[in-house]
Amino acid sequence: MVEPFKTPTTGYDKLASVYDRLYLSEKDLQRSAAAHGAARECLGKVRPRGAVLDAGCGTGFLLEGVPVGEPTYVGVDISNGMLAEAKSKFPSYTFLEASVTDTRLPAGSVGAFISLFSVVNYVETSELLGEIGRICASGARVLIVARRALSSDDYQGTPEFACLWDWDTITEIHCSDTLRDVAVRPLTESVLGDDKFVVLEATRA
Ligand SMILES: C[S@@+](CC[C@H](N)C(=O)[O-])C[C@H]1O[C@@H](n2cnc3c(N)ncnc32)[C@H](O)[C@@H]1O
Repeated sequence: MVEPFKTPTTGYDKLASVYDRLYLSEKDLQRSAAAHGAARECLGKVRPRGAVLDAGCGTGFLLEGVPVGEPTYVGVDISNGMLAEAKSKFPSYTFLEASVTDTRLPAGSVGAFISLFSVVNYVETSELLGEIGRICASGARVLIVARRALSSDDYQGTPEFACLWDWDTITEIHCSDTLRDVAVRPLTESVLGDDKFVVLEATRA
């Protein structure tokens, strides 16, 4: 398994003011639409009441494509700069500056845990599963859209992503006690044949 990369907080602080202009190619927009679609589908299956946690919310990408009500939404991000952008776009929503591995949210308070293009590339899987297990209610839906490594060649163009999500990580998640009904599929089946993102859907055990 590859070693996790330490969260590039300062990197995202510096990127924050231009972040929303970084991913506007046709392929990026298709990928964004697919991620929003996956999130809408996930939220349609949520049974327990509770917060919708946007893990690694960045500048508020989830809210841009998915109608999540103000009272239930909680965005968590470790980068103050990214959060400042999110707050300026969605001033009435709740955002917390924290690591997703230590959110300080009450135990069992989350009904849906959603991570789009964010934290799983930066944190230890065991710590992530530990916090999901603590804050999610039993039956909560978990959706993670993550960059994956296809081969060691994948790292060459993006050395900053020392830890892409690999199949060992997915196996670790499959074998965890925290999640059940774990399903992993490509982000898009047909539109982006070479897309390097996968979708993991699961239920908190
Ligand atoms: C590529 S951006 C994605 C942001 C947003 N989800 C989107 O799709 O546009 C990754 C985000 O994860 C955040 N992040 C990285 N490590 C984190 C951690 N340990 N806890 C919370 N947020 C983290 C970064 O600050 C950044 O805002």
